[in-house]
Formats: sequence, structure tokens, C-alpha cells
Amino acid sequence: MTEMFRDKIDVSLTVNGEPVEARVPAGQHMIDFLRLELGLTGAHVSCEHGVCGACTIRVDGDAVRGCLMLAAQADGAEVWTVEGLTDTNAISDLQDAFVARNALQCGFCTPGMLVAAEELLSKGDVPSRAEIREHLSGNYCRCTGYEAIIDAVESVAQGRAGKGKT
Ligand code: FES
Ligand code: FES
Repeated sequence: MTEMFRDKIDVSLTVNGEPVEARVPAGQHMIDFLRLELGLTGAHVSCEHGVCGACTIRVDGDAVRGCLMLAAQADGAEVWTVEGLTDTNAISDLQDAFVARNALQCGFCTPGMLVAAEELLSKGDVPSRAEIREHLSGNYCRCTGYEAIIDAVESVAQGRAGKGKT
């Protein structure tokens, strides 16, 4: 193990609205810090190299791959995981729509899908189906075939704009 991975770095951040102070290994990935140190296991780990989107979290407003970010890089950041977005009801309409539209089966991809979808919808526009598909193109789902996921996100976008119902 190199010296870099043995080094520890002090970080101060907020996670789901709560202040967090920690001393993290320099080489620890953010997703491992959240899951192993903070017990926030909603974001999943699959490919571990930025392809599947299962580990998606929000960092300073952006959807970020937790497996591509180091915990040490989160110093000063505002981090939200699917747990916090759930507790604050920020994604309750998305969650309801995913259930109503059968947009999940095994559910492994779903936390990442929800976080990525919320990033898109937080821009305030009503995206087209093509835009939704493009935005979620980095989030893989092995089960649903994607159409139901696009349906769910589209219905929420329309619902939030007062143009339809979820
Ligand atoms: S586990 Fe991070 S993108 Fe796949
Ligand atoms: S619901 Fe199973 S991977 Fe998406």
C-alpha cells in the first residue's frame, strides 16, 4: 500500500443536512465512506468505475458518481443521498411515480435513478422524453427496459409543472 493510501485527511461536510466531521483515508472512495462509515447504504456499489450509476449521490447540487470521488474531496461539500432526499420528501413524487408506473423490479438501480432524475427535475424545466433518456443514460437498469422509468420521470416533470398528474 502506498503512503498516499495510508494518509488520513480531516474533512468537514454536511450529509443530508447534518454536519459530519471525519478523518478519512486519502484513498477512500466517497461511496465507501457513506456506506461503511456513515451507514448510508441506499446508494449502491456495482461497477466501481463510473459506468453504471448505482452509486449516484448529489454533491453541491450535482449528481456525482460516489465511486469516482474520494471522500477527501468532499471537504466543505453539501452531500445528499437517497436517504436524505427521502426523509425531506424531496423525491416522494418520484418514488410514488416509480411504484405507480412499475419503474422498478429488483430495485438495485433505483436509488441512483431517483437521485439522477431529481437532479434533472430540479432545473425546473419539463424535459422531453429524449432529454430524460439522455440524462439517465449513465444509469443502468438490468430489469425494466427503461420505458417505465422514462414514463415515471416524465409524469413527475409534468406534475410538478402543473400540467399533469403523477
Ligand atoms: S458503482 Fe459507481 S458508477 Fe457503477
Ligand atoms: S430495477 Fe433491477 S436493475 Fe433496475
